[in-house]
Amino acid sequence: MTEHFMATREHRRFAEFAGAVRKQRTIGICFGPAGVGKTVSARRYAQWEAVGPVADTWGPRSRDVDQKAYTAASRARTVLYTPQVGGTLKALREDIQRGQRRVDICIGEALADQSQSIQTTHAGSSQVEMIVVDEAERLSSTGIEWLRDHHDRTSIALILIGMPGIEKQFARYPQLYSRIGFAHQYRPLGNDELLFVLDRYWRRLGRTLNPEDFTDAQAVAAIQRITRGNFRLLERLLPQIQRILKINELDTITDDVIEAARSTLVIGTT
Ligand SMILES: Nc1ncnc2c1ncn2[C@@H]1O[C@H](COP(=O)(O)OP(=O)(O)OP(=O)(O)O)[C@@H](O)[C@H]1O
Ligand SMILES: [Mg+2]
Repeated sequence: MTEHFMATREHRRFAEFAGAVRKQRTIGICFGPAGVGKTVSARRYAQWEAVGPVADTWGPRSRDVDQKAYTAASRARTVLYTPQVGGTLKALREDIQRGQRRVDICIGEALADQSQSIQTTHAGSSQVEMIVVDEAERLSSTGIEWLRDHHDRTSIALILIGMPGIEKQFARYPQLYSRIGFAHQYRPLGNDELLFVLDRYWRRLGRTLNPEDFTDAQAVAAIQRITRGNFRLLERLLPQIQRILKINELDTITDDVIEAARSTLVIGTT
């Protein structure tokens, strides 16, 4: 998925938000509808593409993978965590502590490589600056309390990501709620940016999008109407468009083609 990563405006806004939460060592919540790109942005910010394979698995790895993880971890200083559905407090605690320890080790390796002595930090203190919890609505009330307490004791910044409504769910926890420094709303793509994204997709399909052209303009309008700027819907619609073109031996992406593609998607497009 991230091979086609696009630095969208919403991603930039997320990165700014995350940077501010991390710098102020506070708690931030990020909420937005399903499929807009929250997880993609969080993974990108945490550089989890590189850190994840080491932090999540910790098995035998190549030196190359290790080095990449060390460098990425020392830049991002972030642990990304997705709680299990119905997970216990014990599992949450162990997972977070393990993740934090592993990212810490990666950061330590990177610093040692840069011959910056890690001795300068006193024992027990962590080099991790932020923990990001994705799918935070899965957290139990004791899980939330534990995270809040962990934040208090370590002053590691905390971001909780979830669907709209999660900010209201957290209002039930006054101790957590009073510590929230930032609430960030993750929005779908705006029309102008959707156009930019579509231009990239068209090129991937070996075509050029010309918004001045009537047929293209109609196609864009149809996609805007169907996806409302939702990235996941877009990602599901496009292969269908490609398929419709192919089976009908068509060359042009018209709004009819798009309508036919939409009708093959059962969920979420009406
Ligand atoms: N910046 C981006 N660049 C390229 N593709 C993206 C980007 N953001 C999102 N996508 C695409 O959209 C899909 C959905 O994004 P993501 O999984 O991050 O949504 P989400 O907001 O976390 O949704 P959910 O609430 O369901 O977890 C991704 O699998 C990816 O294909
Ligand atoms: Mg997600």
